[in-house]
Amino acid sequence: MKSKLIRLASLPVGIPQEANFNLGFEELPAIKAGELLLKTLYISVDPYLRAKMAGGHKPPLVAGDIMYSRAVAEVVASAAADFKPGDKVLGFLEWRDYLIHNGEGLTRLDDSGLPLSSYLSVLGSTGLSAYFALTDIGKPKPCETLVVSGAAGAVGSIAGQIGKLMGCRVIGIAGSNEKVDWMKSQLGFDAGIDYKTTPDTGAAVSSLCPDGIDIYFDNVGGAISDAVINRMNDYGRVVVCGSIANYNDTASGTGMPLLPLVVYKKLLVQGFLIADYKARFAEGIGRLQQWIAAGQLQYAETIMDGFDRLPEAFIGLFEGKNEGKMIVRV
Ligand SMILES: NC(=O)c1ccc[n+]([C@@H]2O[C@H](COP(=O)([O-])OP(=O)(O)OC[C@H]3O[C@@H](n4cnc5c(N)ncnc54)[C@H](OP(=O)(O)O)[C@@H]3O)[C@@H](O)[C@H]2O)c1
Repeated sequence: MKSKLIRLASLPVGIPQEANFNLGFEELPAIKAGELLLKTLYISVDPYLRAKMAGGHKPPLVAGDIMYSRAVAEVVASAAADFKPGDKVLGFLEWRDYLIHNGEGLTRLDDSGLPLSSYLSVLGSTGLSAYFALTDIGKPKPCETLVVSGAAGAVGSIAGQIGKLMGCRVIGIAGSNEKVDWMKSQLGFDAGIDYKTTPDTGAAVSSLCPDGIDIYFDNVGGAISDAVINRMNDYGRVVVCGSIANYNDTASGTGMPLLPLVVYKKLLVQGFLIADYKARFAEGIGRLQQWIAAGQLQYAETIMDGFDRLPEAFIGLFEGKNEGKMIVRV
Protein backbone atom coordinates (compact mmCIF):
# COMPACT_ATOMS: atom_id res chain seq x y z
CA MET A 1 0.00 0.00 0.00
CA LYS A 2 1.23 3.52 -0.84
CA SER A 3 1.45 6.17 1.88
CA LYS A 4 1.73 9.91 1.35
CA LEU A 5 4.18 11.80 3.54
CA ILE A 6 5.44 15.35 4.01
CA ARG A 7 9.08 16.21 4.65
CA LEU A 8 10.75 19.42 5.68
CA ALA A 9 12.67 20.00 2.44
CA SER A 10 14.70 22.95 3.71
CA LEU A 11 14.90 25.08 6.84
CA PRO A 12 12.80 28.25 6.52
CA VAL A 13 14.37 31.67 6.72
CA GLY A 14 11.76 34.00 8.19
CA ILE A 15 8.14 32.97 7.67
CA PRO A 16 7.94 29.37 6.36
CA GLN A 17 6.99 28.96 2.69
CA GLU A 18 5.32 26.05 0.87
CA ALA A 19 8.68 25.45 -0.87
CA ASN A 20 10.17 24.46 2.51
CA PHE A 21 8.07 21.26 2.38
CA ASN A 22 7.74 18.43 -0.06
CA LEU A 23 5.19 15.72 -0.61
CA GLY A 24 6.47 12.18 -1.07
CA PHE A 25 5.16 8.65 -1.40
CA GLU A 26 6.35 5.44 0.17
CA GLU A 27 5.28 1.82 -0.24
CA LEU A 28 4.26 0.43 3.17
CA PRO A 29 5.21 -3.18 3.94
CA ALA A 30 2.76 -5.56 5.64
CA ILE A 31 2.61 -5.11 9.44
CA LYS A 32 4.69 -7.45 11.62
CA ALA A 33 3.93 -8.83 15.10
CA GLY A 34 3.39 -5.97 17.56
CA GLU A 35 2.66 -3.41 14.85
CA LEU A 36 -0.41 -1.41 13.80
CA LEU A 37 -1.52 0.05 10.50
CA LEU A 38 -2.95 3.51 11.21
CA LYS A 39 -5.06 5.77 9.03
CA THR A 40 -4.53 9.38 10.07
CA LEU A 41 -7.73 11.34 10.63
CA TYR A 42 -6.71 14.73 12.06
CA ILE A 43 -3.30 16.40 12.35
CA SER A 44 -2.50 19.35 14.58
CA VAL A 45 -0.29 22.13 13.21
CA ASP A 46 1.36 24.19 15.94
CA PRO A 47 3.62 27.23 16.30
CA TYR A 48 6.22 25.22 18.27
CA LEU A 49 7.09 23.33 15.08
CA ARG A 50 8.64 26.57 13.81
CA ALA A 51 10.71 26.78 17.00
CA LYS A 52 11.87 23.21 16.31
CA MET A 53 13.01 24.29 12.85
CA ALA A 54 15.06 27.05 14.47
CA GLY A 55 16.58 24.56 16.92
CA GLY A 56 15.13 26.23 20.02
CA HIS A 57 12.62 23.48 20.77
CA LYS A 58 14.35 20.12 21.21
CA PRO A 59 14.74 17.79 19.43
CA PRO A 60 15.16 20.08 16.40
CA LEU A 61 13.63 19.43 13.00
CA VAL A 62 16.24 19.40 10.25
CA ALA A 63 16.00 19.41 6.46
CA GLY A 64 14.97 15.98 5.19
CA ASP A 65 13.02 15.02 8.33
CA ILE A 66 9.48 13.77 7.96
CA MET A 67 7.33 16.33 9.80
CA TYR A 68 5.51 15.10 12.90
CA SER A 69 3.06 16.48 15.42
CA ARG A 70 0.10 15.40 17.52
CA ALA A 71 -2.53 13.57 15.50
CA VAL A 72 -5.61 11.40 15.86
CA ALA A 73 -5.69 8.16 13.86
CA GLU A 74 -7.80 5.05 13.44
CA VAL A 75 -6.38 1.55 13.75
CA VAL A 76 -6.99 -0.17 10.40
CA ALA A 77 -5.15 -3.43 11.15
CA SER A 78 -3.50 -4.66 14.32
CA ALA A 79 -0.92 -7.27 15.16
CA ALA A 80 -0.57 -5.81 18.70
CA ALA A 81 -2.44 -7.11 21.74
CA ASP A 82 -3.45 -3.68 23.08
CA PHE A 83 -5.24 -2.33 20.00
CA LYS A 84 -7.97 -3.56 17.69
CA PRO A 85 -9.20 -2.32 14.31
CA GLY A 86 -11.53 0.65 14.73
CA ASP A 87 -9.76 1.99 17.84
CA LYS A 88 -9.09 5.71 17.71
CA VAL A 89 -5.69 6.77 19.03
CA LEU A 90 -3.81 9.97 19.85
CA GLY A 91 -0.06 10.38 19.60
CA PHE A 92 2.86 12.18 18.03
CA LEU A 93 2.67 10.87 14.48
CA GLU A 94 4.62 11.49 11.31
CA TRP A 95 2.78 13.51 8.68
CA ARG A 96 1.57 10.51 6.65
CA ASP A 97 -1.91 9.55 5.57
CA TYR A 98 -1.26 5.88 6.46
CA LEU A 99 1.55 4.63 8.67
CA ILE A 100 2.90 1.65 10.51
CA HIS A 101 3.36 2.16 14.26
CA ASN A 102 4.61 0.03 17.15
CA GLY A 103 1.94 1.40 19.52
CA GLU A 104 4.45 3.07 21.86
CA GLY A 105 3.19 6.36 23.28
CA LEU A 106 -0.28 6.03 21.74
CA THR A 107 -3.35 6.78 23.88
CA ARG A 108 -6.61 5.01 23.05
CA LEU A 109 -9.37 7.63 22.93
CA ASP A 110 -12.66 7.16 24.76
CA ASP A 111 -15.84 8.69 23.49
CA SER A 112 -15.83 12.10 25.17
CA GLY A 113 -19.09 13.07 23.50
CA LEU A 114 -17.11 15.68 21.55
CA PRO A 115 -15.69 15.31 18.02
CA LEU A 116 -12.35 13.49 17.80
CA SER A 117 -10.66 16.73 16.72
CA SER A 118 -11.30 18.12 20.23
CA TYR A 119 -8.39 15.94 21.45
CA LEU A 120 -6.16 18.23 19.40
CA SER A 121 -7.87 21.42 20.58
CA VAL A 122 -9.75 22.06 23.79
CA LEU A 123 -9.08 18.60 25.31
CA GLY A 124 -5.56 18.55 23.86
CA SER A 125 -2.36 20.36 24.63
CA THR A 126 -3.66 23.84 23.78
CA GLY A 127 -6.75 23.66 26.03
CA LEU A 128 -4.66 22.05 28.76
CA SER A 129 -1.95 24.72 28.40
CA ALA A 130 -4.57 27.43 28.86
CA TYR A 131 -5.95 25.71 31.95
CA PHE A 132 -2.71 24.81 33.74
CA ALA A 133 -0.72 27.90 32.82
CA LEU A 134 -3.47 30.28 33.89
CA THR A 135 -4.50 28.53 37.09
CA ASP A 136 -1.04 27.44 38.31
CA ILE A 137 1.04 30.47 37.29
CA GLY A 138 -1.50 33.27 36.71
CA LYS A 139 -3.47 32.32 39.85
CA PRO A 140 -6.46 34.49 38.88
CA LYS A 141 -8.60 36.04 41.59
CA PRO A 142 -12.05 37.65 41.25
CA CYS A 143 -12.03 41.28 40.08
CA GLU A 144 -8.43 41.13 38.80
CA THR A 145 -7.62 42.35 35.28
CA LEU A 146 -6.29 39.69 32.90
CA VAL A 147 -4.85 40.55 29.48
CA VAL A 148 -4.41 37.72 26.96
CA SER A 149 -2.38 38.05 23.75
CA GLY A 150 -2.97 35.70 20.81
CA ALA A 151 -6.43 35.79 22.34
CA ALA A 152 -8.43 34.36 19.45
CA GLY A 153 -6.10 31.39 19.00
CA ALA A 154 -6.29 27.89 20.43
CA VAL A 155 -4.63 28.62 23.78
CA GLY A 156 -5.68 32.27 24.13
CA SER A 157 -9.39 31.78 23.45
CA ILE A 158 -9.59 29.15 26.21
CA ALA A 159 -7.34 31.05 28.66
CA GLY A 160 -9.50 34.18 28.39
CA GLN A 161 -12.70 32.24 29.04
CA ILE A 162 -11.19 30.47 32.05
CA GLY A 163 -10.19 33.91 33.33
CA LYS A 164 -13.85 34.96 33.08
CA LEU A 165 -14.93 31.78 34.89
CA MET A 166 -12.52 32.74 37.69
CA GLY A 167 -14.11 36.19 37.96
CA CYS A 168 -11.51 38.32 36.16
CA ARG A 169 -12.05 41.25 33.84
CA VAL A 170 -10.58 39.94 30.55
CA ILE A 171 -9.10 41.92 27.68
CA GLY A 172 -7.98 40.02 24.58
CA ILE A 173 -5.50 41.17 21.93
CA ALA A 174 -5.81 39.64 18.45
CA GLY A 175 -5.14 40.38 14.79
CA SER A 176 -8.51 41.37 13.29
CA ASN A 177 -11.76 43.13 14.08
CA GLU A 178 -13.70 39.94 13.38
CA LYS A 179 -11.63 38.12 16.00
CA VAL A 180 -12.23 40.90 18.54
CA ASP A 181 -15.99 40.82 17.86
CA TRP A 182 -15.99 37.02 18.26
CA MET A 183 -14.12 37.18 21.58
CA LYS A 184 -16.58 39.72 22.95
CA SER A 185 -19.85 38.37 21.56
CA GLN A 186 -19.24 34.59 21.75
CA LEU A 187 -16.53 34.08 24.37
CA GLY A 188 -17.63 36.71 26.88
CA PHE A 189 -14.41 38.77 26.92
CA ASP A 190 -14.97 42.26 28.36
CA ALA A 191 -12.98 44.05 25.66
CA GLY A 192 -10.54 43.44 22.84
CA ILE A 193 -7.87 45.17 20.78
CA ASP A 194 -7.13 44.53 17.11
CA TYR A 195 -3.37 45.05 17.20
CA LYS A 196 -3.11 45.21 13.41
CA THR A 197 -5.33 48.28 13.00
CA THR A 198 -4.88 50.00 16.37
CA PRO A 199 -2.20 52.66 15.88
CA ASP A 200 -1.01 52.59 19.52
CA THR A 201 -1.62 49.24 21.23
CA GLY A 202 -0.16 50.54 24.50
CA ALA A 203 -2.56 53.48 24.64
CA ALA A 204 -5.47 51.14 23.89
CA VAL A 205 -4.35 48.81 26.71
CA SER A 206 -4.11 51.79 29.09
CA SER A 207 -7.59 53.02 28.28
CA LEU A 208 -9.13 49.54 28.62
CA CYS A 209 -7.27 48.78 31.86
CA PRO A 210 -7.72 51.90 34.03
CA ASP A 211 -6.77 49.90 37.15
CA GLY A 212 -3.67 48.41 35.55
CA ILE A 213 -3.06 44.73 34.75
CA ASP A 214 -2.72 41.98 37.34
CA ILE A 215 -2.11 39.01 35.03
CA TYR A 216 -0.70 38.89 31.51
CA PHE A 217 -1.12 35.60 29.65
CA ASP A 218 1.47 35.95 26.90
CA ASN A 219 1.24 33.89 23.72
CA VAL A 220 3.08 36.25 21.40
CA GLY A 221 5.96 38.24 22.93
CA GLY A 222 7.41 41.13 20.87
CA ALA A 223 5.98 44.64 20.79
CA ILE A 224 2.56 43.58 22.11
CA SER A 225 4.15 42.20 25.26
CA ASP A 226 6.26 45.33 25.70
CA ALA A 227 3.05 47.39 25.61
CA VAL A 228 1.26 45.17 28.13
CA ILE A 229 4.11 44.56 30.59
CA ASN A 230 4.77 48.31 30.80
CA ARG A 231 1.27 48.65 32.26
CA MET A 232 1.39 45.82 34.82
CA ASN A 233 0.52 46.46 38.46
CA ASP A 234 3.09 45.85 41.19
CA TYR A 235 3.39 42.13 41.96
CA GLY A 236 1.63 41.29 38.68
CA ARG A 237 2.07 37.83 37.19
CA VAL A 238 3.26 37.25 33.63
CA VAL A 239 2.54 33.77 32.26
CA VAL A 240 4.95 33.22 29.38
CA CYS A 241 3.27 30.54 27.27
CA GLY A 242 4.72 31.42 23.86
CA SER A 243 6.32 34.13 21.73
CA ILE A 244 5.11 33.53 18.17
CA ALA A 245 6.06 37.10 17.20
CA ASN A 246 9.71 36.04 17.49
CA TYR A 247 9.63 32.52 16.02
CA ASN A 248 10.49 33.74 12.51
CA ASP A 249 13.23 36.17 13.59
CA THR A 250 16.41 35.83 11.61
CA ALA A 251 18.62 37.63 14.15
CA SER A 252 18.64 36.88 17.85
CA GLY A 253 17.77 39.79 20.13
CA THR A 254 20.17 40.98 22.79
CA GLY A 255 19.33 41.10 26.46
CA MET A 256 15.86 41.46 27.91
CA PRO A 257 14.92 45.14 27.75
CA LEU A 258 11.98 44.59 30.09
CA LEU A 259 14.06 43.25 32.99
CA PRO A 260 14.22 46.63 34.80
CA LEU A 261 10.41 46.66 34.81
CA VAL A 262 10.40 43.20 36.33
CA VAL A 263 12.44 44.69 39.17
CA TYR A 264 10.58 47.95 39.72
CA LYS A 265 7.13 46.39 39.47
CA LYS A 266 8.25 43.28 41.40
CA LEU A 267 6.70 41.10 38.69
CA LEU A 268 6.58 37.35 38.72
CA VAL A 269 7.48 36.19 35.20
CA GLN A 270 7.29 32.46 34.70
CA GLY A 271 7.64 30.28 31.65
CA PHE A 272 5.34 27.33 31.08
CA LEU A 273 5.71 24.04 29.21
CA ILE A 274 2.77 21.69 28.90
CA ALA A 275 5.08 18.65 28.91
CA ASP A 276 5.62 19.22 32.66
CA TYR A 277 1.94 18.55 33.33
CA LYS A 278 1.49 15.06 31.84
CA ALA A 279 0.66 13.56 35.23
CA ARG A 280 -2.25 16.00 35.60
CA PHE A 281 -3.76 15.73 32.09
CA ALA A 282 -6.76 13.66 33.31
CA GLU A 283 -7.57 16.33 35.91
CA GLY A 284 -7.36 19.10 33.30
CA ILE A 285 -9.44 17.23 30.72
CA GLY A 286 -12.07 16.50 33.38
CA ARG A 287 -12.33 20.17 34.32
CA LEU A 288 -12.51 21.37 30.71
CA GLN A 289 -15.18 18.75 29.90
CA GLN A 290 -17.29 19.90 32.87
CA TRP A 291 -17.21 23.51 31.73
CA ILE A 292 -18.08 22.53 28.14
CA ALA A 293 -20.96 20.30 29.30
CA ALA A 294 -22.29 23.14 31.46
CA GLY A 295 -22.21 25.49 28.47
CA GLN A 296 -19.64 27.70 30.21
CA LEU A 297 -16.74 27.13 27.81
CA GLN A 298 -16.84 27.49 24.02
CA TYR A 299 -14.14 26.23 21.71
CA ALA A 300 -13.46 26.83 18.04
CA GLU A 301 -11.51 24.89 15.44
CA THR A 302 -10.38 26.04 12.00
CA ILE A 303 -10.32 22.78 10.05
CA MET A 304 -8.61 22.61 6.64
CA ASP A 305 -9.49 19.61 4.52
CA GLY A 306 -6.80 17.60 2.76
CA PHE A 307 -3.49 16.05 3.78
CA ASP A 308 -1.63 18.06 1.11
CA ARG A 309 -2.72 21.30 2.82
CA LEU A 310 -0.64 20.67 5.97
CA PRO A 311 2.07 23.19 4.96
CA GLU A 312 -0.60 25.79 4.07
CA ALA A 313 -2.31 25.29 7.44
CA PHE A 314 0.99 25.54 9.31
CA ILE A 315 2.00 28.73 7.47
CA GLY A 316 -1.50 30.10 8.14
CA LEU A 317 -0.69 30.22 11.86
CA PHE A 318 1.77 33.05 11.17
CA GLU A 319 -0.82 34.90 9.09
CA GLY A 320 -3.58 34.64 11.70
CA LYS A 321 -5.77 32.49 9.42
CA ASN A 322 -7.19 30.52 12.37
CA GLU A 323 -9.87 31.21 14.94
CA GLY A 324 -9.34 28.71 17.76
CA LYS A 325 -7.27 25.62 16.92
CA MET A 326 -5.84 25.08 13.43
CA ILE A 327 -6.28 21.40 12.44
CA VAL A 328 -6.02 19.48 9.17
CA ARG A 329 -8.57 16.77 8.38
CA VAL A 330 -6.79 14.15 6.31
N1 LIG B 1 4.36 26.53 26.46
C1 LIG B 1 3.59 25.55 26.01
O1 LIG B 1 3.60 24.42 26.50
C2 LIG B 1 2.72 25.86 24.83
C3 LIG B 1 1.70 24.98 24.42
C4 LIG B 1 0.89 25.37 23.34
C5 LIG B 1 1.13 26.58 22.69
N2 LIG B 1 2.15 27.38 23.12
C6 LIG B 1 2.40 28.69 22.52
O2 LIG B 1 1.23 29.47 22.70
C7 LIG B 1 1.07 30.36 21.61
C8 LIG B 1 -0.27 30.11 20.95
O3 LIG B 1 -0.27 28.79 20.41
P1 LIG B 1 -1.58 28.21 19.73
O4 LIG B 1 -1.30 26.79 19.42
O5 LIG B 1 -2.75 28.58 20.55
O6 LIG B 1 -1.61 29.01 18.36
P2 LIG B 1 -2.77 29.95 17.87
O7 LIG B 1 -2.83 31.12 18.82
O8 LIG B 1 -3.99 29.16 17.67
O9 LIG B 1 -2.25 30.40 16.43
C9 LIG B 1 -1.27 31.34 16.29
C10 LIG B 1 -1.85 32.78 16.30
O10 LIG B 1 -0.81 33.68 16.60
C11 LIG B 1 -1.10 34.94 16.05
N3 LIG B 1 0.13 35.50 15.50
C12 LIG B 1 0.86 35.03 14.46
N4 LIG B 1 1.94 35.80 14.24
C13 LIG B 1 1.88 36.79 15.17
C14 LIG B 1 2.71 37.92 15.47
N5 LIG B 1 3.83 38.17 14.76
N6 LIG B 1 2.35 38.74 16.49
C15 LIG B 1 1.23 38.50 17.20
N7 LIG B 1 0.41 37.44 16.98
C16 LIG B 1 0.74 36.60 15.97
C17 LIG B 1 -2.15 34.73 14.96
O11 LIG B 1 -3.36 35.37 15.35
P3 LIG B 1 -3.62 36.95 15.15
O12 LIG B 1 -4.64 37.05 14.06
O13 LIG B 1 -4.14 37.37 16.48
O14 LIG B 1 -2.32 37.59 14.77
C18 LIG B 1 -2.36 33.22 14.93
O15 LIG B 1 -3.70 32.85 14.74
C19 LIG B 1 2.25 30.10 20.67
O16 LIG B 1 3.27 31.03 20.98
C20 LIG B 1 2.68 28.69 21.04
O17 LIG B 1 4.02 28.45 20.74
C21 LIG B 1 2.93 27.04 24.16
